[in-house]
Amino acid sequence: MKMVEDVYENVGKPIDIGELAYCALINLIGKMVWGGALRGEKGTAVKGRFKEISSQMMVLLGKPNISDIFPAIAWFDIQSIKRGMKKIRQSFNELLESVIELRMNTVTEKETSEQKFDFLQLLLDLHKNQDSPSSLTMNQVKGLLMDIVVGATDTTSTTTEWAMAEVMQHPEIMEKVKKELTDVVGINDIIEEFHLPNLSYLNAVIKETFRLHPPVPLLVPRCSAQSLTVGGYTIPKGSKVFLNMWSIHMDPNIWDNPSEFRPERFLDEPGKFDFLRNDFRYMPFGSGRRRCPGITLGEKMLSFILASLLHYFEWKLPQGEQLDLSRFGIVMKKKNPLRLIPIPRLSGHVLYKK
Ligand code: HEM
Repeated sequence: MKMVEDVYENVGKPIDIGELAYCALINLIGKMVWGGALRGEKGTAVKGRFKEISSQMMVLLGKPNISDIFPAIAWFDIQSIKRGMKKIRQSFNELLESVIELRMNTVTEKETSEQKFDFLQLLLDLHKNQDSPSSLTMNQVKGLLMDIVVGATDTTSTTTEWAMAEVMQHPEIMEKVKKELTDVVGINDIIEEFHLPNLSYLNAVIKETFRLHPPVPLLVPRCSAQSLTVGGYTIPKGSKVFLNMWSIHMDPNIWDNPSEFRPERFLDEPGKFDFLRNDFRYMPFGSGRRRCPGITLGEKMLSFILASLLHYFEWKLPQGEQLDLSRFGIVMKKKNPLRLIPIPRLSGHVLYKK
C-alpha cells in the first residue's frame, strides 16, 4: 500500500517501474530481515546504493568467465571479473555494516527487545554466542544478509519490469488481467493477500514472463563431484557446469511457438509447472539442493506487486516514447528502463491511502 500511495502521489508523471518495484522490495525485505524499512536521508542513500551494487553483482554473476574454462590463466583475470567482485564485496561490506549500525543507533532499547526475533537479531545473537557450535562470524552474518538481499530484490524487480512491459505490449492480455482483477477483487476494493491464489490468469502471466525472461538464465554454476556421462558426453570430475535455462525455455521441441508471449499455455494444466516439482523443461528457480529457497516468498511478492500496479492504475507510455523490449547481455535485464505514466483506475481516493 505504501507503493500504491507513492504512485498515487505521482499520477500523470512517468515512473521507472523497475526502480519502483525495487524500492517496494527492499522495504519489504528490510522489514522481514532487519525489522524496519530504511528511513530518512541515510536510509534513501543506502537503498540507492543497494540497487546499484546488486545490479552490478547480477551482471558479473551471469558473465561467462574465461578463467572457468581455462583455469591455468585464471590468475590473469582477463575480464576483470574477480577484481569487480572484490570491489562489490567491499561495497556490500560497508553497506551492511551501515545497516547494522543504523539499526543499532536508531532503535530504542524497548524496540530492540520487541524486534528480537527478526532475522538480523537472530544472526547477531548467533554471532554473540561464540561458544555454540552454530555460532556465526560477522562475515557469515553479512554473507547471509547479502544472499537474501541480492537474491530477493534484483530477480523480483527485474521480473516485475518485464511482466509490465509484456502486458503493455499485448493489450488483449492486459484486458484479461484487468477483467480478472475486477472479478476477483472488485472494482472498488483493495487487494488482500487472500485474493492472490484466485488470480490464475495473472499467475499464468508471471509464469510466462519467467519463461521468456528468466532472471537467472544460467542458474548458479554447478561442479561435478565425480566424472560421469550425460547424453553421451563425458563430464570430468571438477568441471564447472552451466545450465542454460533460457535456451531450454525457448526450445521449440518443448514449447509451441516459444518466442510468443502467451500466458494461456500455463492455464491448460495449472499445477504442472508449479516451480516446486522437478520439471526439467521449466526451471526459473533452479532445481535440486541449490534450488532457490525464496520461491514461495518471491512468487507472492511478485504477484502482490503486479496485481497492485494493475488493479489500482491504468498505465500509458510517456508521449513520444516507444515500448522497447530489448535485453541487456546475458543477465536478462531490460536494456532500457520501462517508464510508464499511472492513471487511477478506481474511484475513491481513500482506496489509495494506507
Ligand atoms: C522472482 C524471484 C526469484 C527468482 C526467479 C529466483 C531465482 C533463483 C535461481 C535460479 C537461483 C539458483 C538456483 C539453482 O541454481 O538451482 C536462486 C538462488 C537463490 N535465491 Fe532466488 N529467486 C527469486 C527470489 C528469491 C527470494 C525472494 C529470495 C530470498 C528470500 C531468494 C534467495 C535466494 C538465495 C539465498 C539463493 C542461493 C541458494 C543457494 O546458493 O543455495 N530468491 N534464485
